Amino acid sequence: MENLNIDTARFLSDIQELGRIGVTDVRKGRTRLALTSADIEGRRWFISRLVELGLNVMIDKFGNIAGVLEGKDNNQLIASGSHLDTVVDAGHLDGAYGIVGALAVLRAIKVSGIIPEKSIGVINFTNEEGIRFKPDMMGSIGIAGYIDEMQVLSALDSEGISITEELYRNGFAGHDVFKPTRYVELHIEQGPVLESAKKQIGIVKGIQGLAWWEVTYTGQACHAGAFPMDIRRDPFAALADFSVMLRENVSKISAAVCTIGVVEVYPKVINVVPGCVKFSVDARCPDPDDFSKLKKSVKTLLRKTAAQHNVKCSFKFVANAPAIMFQEDMTRVVEMCALEETESVMRLISGAGHDAQFMHFICPSCMIFVPSEKGLSHCPQEYTSEDDLLMGVRILGRVMMLLSGKDN
Ligand code: HGY
Ligand code: MN
Ligand code: MN
Repeated sequence: MENLNIDTARFLSDIQELGRIGVTDVRKGRTRLALTSADIEGRRWFISRLVELGLNVMIDKFGNIAGVLEGKDNNQLIASGSHLDTVVDAGHLDGAYGIVGALAVLRAIKVSGIIPEKSIGVINFTNEEGIRFKPDMMGSIGIAGYIDEMQVLSALDSEGISITEELYRNGFAGHDVFKPTRYVELHIEQGPVLESAKKQIGIVKGIQGLAWWEVTYTGQACHAGAFPMDIRRDPFAALADFSVMLRENVSKISAAVCTIGVVEVYPKVINVVPGCVKFSVDARCPDPDDFSKLKKSVKTLLRKTAAQHNVKCSFKFVANAPAIMFQEDMTRVVEMCALEETESVMRLISGAGHDAQFMHFICPSCMIFVPSEKGLSHCPQEYTSEDDLLMGVRILGRVMMLLSGKDN
């Protein structure tokens, strides 16, 4: 099948331009936390591209933004998408690549004058990273109705500002409703699997489960010099033991991973034994049964180490994305389209969470990966070669044309 003629120069300049939004110090990455001014700037940049392409622009109640090219059958929506928000000091490709790649495909379809059988669109999902508001993948959870929409819309940031306030304040509290009937997401792998296997394209079979907790250990602040070690109620010592036992525990559950990425110590002064520590736990596992075991073990360990150090323990379960496997017919579509372009492909499970994880609950979905150099992502060193980026976009074009033209 003839492929679309992608405007590669425009795709590469769009990636660079979007990558500059949210950069405050060139030695670092960009930071576009959900609905902060940098994310708003990214959203406006995206809408300007949708308008330039003459797409039908829609915004829903979760602030998700869609640009749609109407097809002959407007009851079906073949959507691609990803997210414009980022982590702190992020790379320039996570999320952005899927958005700019989908724009490049829509641009090529517009220029070709093809009227697709089914409508084709691109979606930016709100708060995929879940840094400012919990849970992550919030926009796709909202569309999928995976958790109660009031729970989504009442999410508060650390200053007590709700996501709904921010949506209204910035003009992104929409009333449109859009739901893909097929979904495909183009993304960087964000790990080392493709690079170590020397493969150019990842056919994503599924996505591992992801669980987040916000934990508080409360002990007793006291003098760092005068108070004996054996009778301290030191929450940081409890956290240190928890971290060691967590890693031991995770090593026994196949392919599980755990991270403590946030640690706040109070009162955070050199000569005071901390009275309280607040920290995060990120636990993930590809197998659903092992994932349930992992979640149970995290909670057991939290309580056990708190008791050993005679500190109080409280925790909030703030994100819970299930381990999913995409429908084989959709994975096969990606594989066939990829093999039209390259033999260098392999199937794999995604270690990172993606909006496709929740689109999967409302329509047949799939993902295309390209390699991350040294497996690095969620950091300024994030890099993928232009060749690999463009290969991914060409395959996305094939998948979208196949899904929008094929009767199924
Ligand atoms: O955490 C994740 O996997 C995604 O980047 N939100
Ligand atoms: Mn991402
Ligand atoms: Mn990410």
